[in-house]
Amino acid sequence: AAVADFAPRLLAWYDRAARNLPWRIAPGSAVTPDPYRIWLAEVMLQQTTVAAVAGYFARFTERWPSVADLAAADDADVMAAWAGLGYYARARNLLACARTVVADHGGVFPDSEAGLRALPGVGDYTAAAVAAIAFGRPAVVVDANIERAIARHRLIATPLPAAKRAIRAALAPLVPRDRPGDFAQALMDLGATICTPRSPACTRCPVAADCAAFAAGTAESLPLKPPK
Ligand code: ADE
Repeated sequence: AAVADFAPRLLAWYDRAARNLPWRIAPGSAVTPDPYRIWLAEVMLQQTTVAAVAGYFARFTERWPSVADLAAADDADVMAAWAGLGYYARARNLLACARTVVADHGGVFPDSEAGLRALPGVGDYTAAAVAAIAFGRPAVVVDANIERAIARHRLIATPLPAAKRAIRAALAPLVPRDRPGDFAQALMDLGATICTPRSPACTRCPVAADCAAFAAGTAESLPLKPPK
C-alpha cells in the first residue's frame, strides 16, 4: 500500500543517495547527532541555500564548538561572523537562544518539539526539524521542498497557502517511528535533487510508482501558487 511503502522506499534511496552535508552524520551511523549543530544548521538554512550555509556552518562550529561557547561570545563577533547570511534578526535570536539554553536548561537543548518551540527564535519548522533530526522524535517536518513533494505525491490541487493543512495531514501518517530525522532529510533531498520545481526527474524518483501527480502527468504544475 502507498502509505506503508512510502518511508521504506524513500529511506532506501536516502541510504544510497543522501547528500553529504557538514551538519549531517551518515545514515545508519551509530554516532548521536549533536543538537547544537543541528539547531545551528537549521537556523542558518532558513531563507538561505545549502551551498551558502556550508562555509558559515564550518566557521561557526570551529569558533564556537558548543552552545556554551556561543552563549559566551561577544554579540559583535557573532554579528560579524553572520555577515552575508542576511536576516540579522536571526543572528540576534541565535544568541538569545544559546543564552537561554545555557541559563535556563543547563546548556542542554530541550528534547521535545514543545520544549524547543519555547526557545527564542525557534518556530514550528525549526522545532520539528531539531526534534526529529537530533532527538528522533516523530515530528512532522514541513519546508518548501517537502511541501512540493507531498503536494505532488498526493496530487493536492488546492493552491498554497491553503494547501498546507492538507499537506501536513497527508505527511503525518507517512513519518516512520524509527528514522524520523532521516525521513525528513530524505524528503528535503528528494525535493532539492529530484522533485524539483521545474522539470522534476520522476524517472529517478524512489516513490514515483504511487505518485498521483506523476500518474496524471501534472507533477510540474504542483503545488499551485496562490491566486492573484
Ligand atoms: N534544509 C533545511 N534543513 C536541511 C537539512 N537538514 N538538510 C538539507 N537541507 C536542509
